[in-house]
Amino acid sequence: MLDLQSTSQGLAEAFLRQLGAVEEIFTRQLESDLPAVSQLATHVSRYRGKMLRPSLTILSGLTAVEGDLEQLESESLQRLAAVIEMIHMATLVHDDVLDDADERRGTQTVNNLRGNELAVMLGDYLISNAFHLCSTIGDPSLNEALGKTTNTLCEGELVQLHHRDDLSLDLPTYMEIVRRKTAVLVGACGRLGAQVMGGSPELCTALELYGEHLGTAFQIRDDVLDLEGDVETVGKSVGRDLEKGKLTLPVILLLETIPENEFHDVLEVIRCKDAQELKSRIHASGTIEGALEIAQDEISKGKDAVNGIISDSLHPIFEELANSVLTRSR
Ligand code: IPE
Ligand code: IPE
Ligand code: MG
Ligand code: MG
Repeated sequence: MLDLQSTSQGLAEAFLRQLGAVEEIFTRQLESDLPAVSQLATHVSRYRGKMLRPSLTILSGLTAVEGDLEQLESESLQRLAAVIEMIHMATLVHDDVLDDADERRGTQTVNNLRGNELAVMLGDYLISNAFHLCSTIGDPSLNEALGKTTNTLCEGELVQLHHRDDLSLDLPTYMEIVRRKTAVLVGACGRLGAQVMGGSPELCTALELYGEHLGTAFQIRDDVLDLEGDVETVGKSVGRDLEKGKLTLPVILLLETIPENEFHDVLEVIRCKDAQELKSRIHASGTIEGALEIAQDEISKGKDAVNGIISDSLHPIFEELANSVLTRSR
């Protein structure tokens, strides 16, 4: 998702080489001599996403070595990035079961292809492999930090399920769900990517904050795409949030701002899961723009968190990554 046009050729090549190494580690970790397992491993290894999390992990590692591209060739950093992508993929495989989703990354979801039972087990297998791979890095503090992160992520999904069909879900609760289910993992990329390369505590904290703000904006953008996008462009099933009774930011803002005499009509539109009517109410009220303004504010806070802390030569790539979160259409 990162446009490397404005980056020096050396940096772009080194970065892409690291991402390539991450993919190799990922695939190798899931190799199996059992055909039943290796077929699935091949499916998920081919199933590449935008690689936001590994990208941020590698860039954060790079800040810790102050842009020294030779030092960047670190097996520990590559493994860490593969671990985080594997955790992310496990959550997606399980999330698609929860959301009854058919498409992911431009292809069929595992649950669509092979059923829910297999998808649940495959998600477990991915989580198990992720923590196994993490333990081979030889730094137990990474396992501890990532274990805490996945606890928080699961709590976010559990709170979200608790509020299913809750039409009184408020903005602070929505933001807390988003922070837990999405932002903390992106924050961990920033913190741990720098930590594994020996970054200072100050740098690790700044990058964690950067990641958390980007993660929050990323989820808000994702919620807008679920409402407005089409499956071909987004590459995954859309309209799932309304279908599954998840209130997202444009809808919460709509309920907060509509005149009292329309309130009950809108509740009924949501209860009936009438996507067309909901979209036209949202468009009339301008709450997509309102949601994107909140996301933009998160991006600004993310940029501020690293301002003056990362070197001038790396600053543009962090700005570019932050901007890409909101300009993306998949
Ligand atoms: C999807 O994440 C789940 C959310 C947090 C919204 P991504 O949109 O990063 O998924 P991939 O990895 O690119 O497929
Ligand atoms: C799920 O959020 C985020 C996770 C932590 C898995 P979504 O349900 O919005 O993610 P997508 O849209 O299915 O990718
Ligand atoms: Mg989902
Ligand atoms: Mg979504």
